[in-house]
Amino acid sequence: MHKIVFFGDAIGKPGRKALLKVVPEVREKYNPDFIIANVENLAHGKGVTPSTMAELDILHIDAFTGGNHIFEKKDLAQEVFDKYSNLIRPGNYQGNFPGKGWYRTEKNGQGYLIINLNAKVFFAEHYFGGISSPFEEFDKIIADQKRAGDVVFVDFHSEVSSEKKAFGFYVDGRASLVCGTHTHTPTADLRILPKGTGHVSDVGMIGAVNSVLGVPVESSLAIFLGGKFVYEVEESNPIMVNAVYAEINEQGLATKVEKFYTEVEV
Ligand SMILES: [Fe+2]
Repeated sequence: MHKIVFFGDAIGKPGRKALLKVVPEVREKYNPDFIIANVENLAHGKGVTPSTMAELDILHIDAFTGGNHIFEKKDLAQEVFDKYSNLIRPGNYQGNFPGKGWYRTEKNGQGYLIINLNAKVFFAEHYFGGISSPFEEFDKIIADQKRAGDVVFVDFHSEVSSEKKAFGFYVDGRASLVCGTHTHTPTADLRILPKGTGHVSDVGMIGAVNSVLGVPVESSLAIFLGGKFVYEVEESNPIMVNAVYAEINEQGLATKVEKFYTEVEV
């Protein structure tokens, strides 16, 4: 049996500080074999930088996933991808971008294939490049990279619950655990699908409780009340931490999935 934990989108400084506080507690609680975290919002809410990633080095997180904002810090993103081979970004982005969409490694004799994909619906507004079918990209990565006995994890970065649910059923029995990210609002549908894939439409974020998806309430309201929107990260306490814990059997299928939620002061 293999125990894995996935942390949802960590937003800026509060997200980083909360990870530093909570990852050791999660290790104590679950004794996981493998930890994954989404870092597309790590550097002031958008993208990754060498210094923000370095803050997490002490945690020895096994793999990092991305999303539509992952390249936002331009050249710094390239530097991060060069430094961290365990950082991936959605594999179905078209064009010449840093990194790749999968990461395969072995730890204590067990293989882990980590996959990151971006959904298509509503992403024309969110992402500057082309996005191919995440369904077909999953098939391709599995055919090319999966080895017998691998634990297969997918971070499915998506805006709409229908695409998230459909993708879960599409890969049911072929992935160990699929966690949706991007909306920052956790969904209450964490379960094991009929053929054994653990699935949740969205894990939720690591960010300020009193915020709109990690953005200050006043900033966000400007969008809806006709004001001028200025992107900021809400840094007030408490900070919510959303994660998923899963147990995977020797067939690579989930036997237990559990929501992890806590609020911390950082
Ligand atoms: Fe996103």
